[in-house]
Amino acid sequence: MKENALKDLYIDELRDLYNAENQLTKALPKMAEAATSEELQAGFEEHLEQTRGHVERLEKIFEELGEKPTGKKCKGMEGLIEEGKEMIEEEDEVETLDAGLISAAQRVEHYEIAAYGCVRTYANLLGEDDAVKLLEQTLKEEKETDQKLTMLAEKINVEAEEEDSSGPKSKGRAARA
Ligand SMILES: [Fe+2]
Ligand SMILES: [Fe+2]
Repeated sequence: MKENALKDLYIDELRDLYNAENQLTKALPKMAEAATSEELQAGFEEHLEQTRGHVERLEKIFEELGEKPTGKKCKGMEGLIEEGKEMIEEEDEVETLDAGLISAAQRVEHYEIAAYGCVRTYANLLGEDDAVKLLEQTLKEEKETDQKLTMLAEKINVEAEEEDSSGPKSKGRAARA
């Protein structure tokens, strides 16, 4: 690939990510609000702070490039957030709501991990060393968030099971059907 074409692709994908991160700064407070586990709620709030930092890092990269960060809509993120929203609206069992929120959040993290991995590689090929460092910091935070979510999913699922065995706390779908 010619260097110019790679740079165009790099900027294009960075704009996509910039839009995705901005969508997330609006979605994460709603996910925190919907979560019933305090730990999960705190996790979403913490990642909201990090996400604001991700937006700032991207702005720094664009400033260096002398380009505008806006101009793209990330339809992938829009779809992931939409699915998360549907889950919040449809799920009425407390335990499965949290598990579902985690699952939606992990889909988001994996999407971001893939996207940041790509732009980091492009930045490397283009010799954009400062950008590589910034993108790697964000990539690291996305991976850590994903791992924390896995830990929370295990915990929440265990708690749900324990409550289940001590008696029917929530109205199961099967019971109502
Ligand atoms: Fe992010
Ligand atoms: Fe993230």
